[in-house]
Amino acid sequence: MPYESILVPSRVYEGQKPGTSGLRKAVKVFQQQHYTENFVQCILTAIGPKLKGCTLAVGGDGRYFGKEAVNIIVKIAAANGVGKLLIGQHGILSTPAVSCIIRKYKLTGGIILTASHNPGGPENDFGIKYNTDNGGPAPDSVTNAVYDLTTQIKNYSIVPDLTCDIETIGVNNFEVNGKEFVVEIIDPVDDYLNLMKSIFDFPKLKNLLNSNAARPFRILLNSMHGVTGPYVKRIFLDELGAPVNSAIKITPLPDFGGGHPDPNLTYAADLVDSLKNSNFDFGAAFDGDGDRNMILGAKAFFVTPSDSVAILGNHLNSIPYFQKTGIKGVARSMPTGAAIDKVATKLNVEFFEVPTGWKYFGNLMDAGRLSLCGEESFGTGSDHIREKDGIWAVLAWLSVIASTSKSVEQICCDHWCEFGRNYFARYDYEDCEAEPSNKMMKELEKKITDGGFVGTKFEEAKKTFVVEAADNYQYIDPIDKSVAKNQGLRILFSSGARLIFRLSGTGSSGATIRLYAESYEPPSGQVNSNAQEVLRPLIQVGLNISQLQSFTGRTEPTVIT
Ligand code: G6P
Ligand code: ZN
Repeated sequence: MPYESILVPSRVYEGQKPGTSGLRKAVKVFQQQHYTENFVQCILTAIGPKLKGCTLAVGGDGRYFGKEAVNIIVKIAAANGVGKLLIGQHGILSTPAVSCIIRKYKLTGGIILTASHNPGGPENDFGIKYNTDNGGPAPDSVTNAVYDLTTQIKNYSIVPDLTCDIETIGVNNFEVNGKEFVVEIIDPVDDYLNLMKSIFDFPKLKNLLNSNAARPFRILLNSMHGVTGPYVKRIFLDELGAPVNSAIKITPLPDFGGGHPDPNLTYAADLVDSLKNSNFDFGAAFDGDGDRNMILGAKAFFVTPSDSVAILGNHLNSIPYFQKTGIKGVARSMPTGAAIDKVATKLNVEFFEVPTGWKYFGNLMDAGRLSLCGEESFGTGSDHIREKDGIWAVLAWLSVIASTSKSVEQICCDHWCEFGRNYFARYDYEDCEAEPSNKMMKELEKKITDGGFVGTKFEEAKKTFVVEAADNYQYIDPIDKSVAKNQGLRILFSSGARLIFRLSGTGSSGATIRLYAESYEPPSGQVNSNAQEVLRPLIQVGLNISQLQSFTGRTEPTVIT
């Protein structure tokens, strides 16, 4: 049956400004009349002349409102002359899988329905994120264009009665405005699995996990009821033969089972407890949309993400992909602990420091200058796609373990003995009031950029910290020379220690203040201490300088990592 599109008059909604990673708001906000339609229309309009006849990927982390959003995207894409949509069955595609599919099939882009690690359900968050043809999150120039359009929108095009069954794999053909419109429902895992097989030595990993071995390496993966469930099942259980008790919470649920799908020590405490109380050798958790990871060793030995990327960097030759491509360069985000910097020196490869946000790595990868990167926010990945990749990180760690035959803890200790240790901790103050938080950042910026601040000495618990430099971090992209300003307040001390203050860009309401602390201990020093204890005096200095407690009324952080 031929369909015709109609133009629906709409109204402008304020605040449709994408944050660090797409537009994230409460589900209730997206459910307002025309709200989601407006934003989808603006994404499509921003594609410009390439829109007509293009192919886009669509899928998400399975959270509440995801299927409704897919339905809206189908109707609006059809009306706007999109040629084809590739949609994950049941509306499911992990963020790394979308990036993989965009690149593999050379698509114009993809729309990802996720609020990543934010809780889901009718009372929680939803999100829409656009990725461009390199498979990565849209750069600022695109998200700014989308935002500008949202402030002017008067109407959107839609085919109101076009619906498509997204539960069944197959090709659906429609005729819309006299042109063909195709919706292909694809298996969410196939393409991603094939990519992983081309990167890693699956037989070697199978051997490691094989339950028939005399001493199989026991892993426990926690999908936190997010999108990675089907990927974990296919890759680790079916393909690599890990026993069924190797994976928990692998059914995606619209509300993540009431949990907070953020893989850190607080929200994945169940994984930590399971590892403490059993004899698993390795544990990992993933966030809602599958791009974040947390790695644990036996007895819940925690690998801080800043170390994780550095350790992988030092062992990349355990992974066939890098044997083929070589190591082009490594990078981290500014607040991430500087362990990987030292690995770059050893490998004699380029090193980059970029602002928080995976999108900043994309240009460097596209220019062939970056192979491996990571962020303290539990993101690790490589140039195999343009998103961070939780499952990839676990496969990479297992590859290192299979090659070295060492435990996670031993691998970390060896690393510190070779490179020294960058102690790292992050305090999060979630859901603070926005106004006092902004005020705190303003006052702090004034204080630290004042001429007299450099050289100031702070004493705390018998330790002395002397300010060497301080600024509001700014980044000039080495490839396109675009400038990102206001990327976090940095206080750098003469010992190499750092304190950083940032407001989170991924929340949906209020403000989350992040305080990052780092200090360096050379290989000859105390590299096996407890990070939280080592960093306590430095953090206290940060709390004193910022007056965080008096601005926010918070005496304790919500999350410590
Ligand atoms: C997302 C991005 C990451 C970034 C993180 C920062 O997960 O994909 O690249 O590190 O947000 O979150 P924040 O809440 O600190 O802005
Ligand atoms: Zn995520």
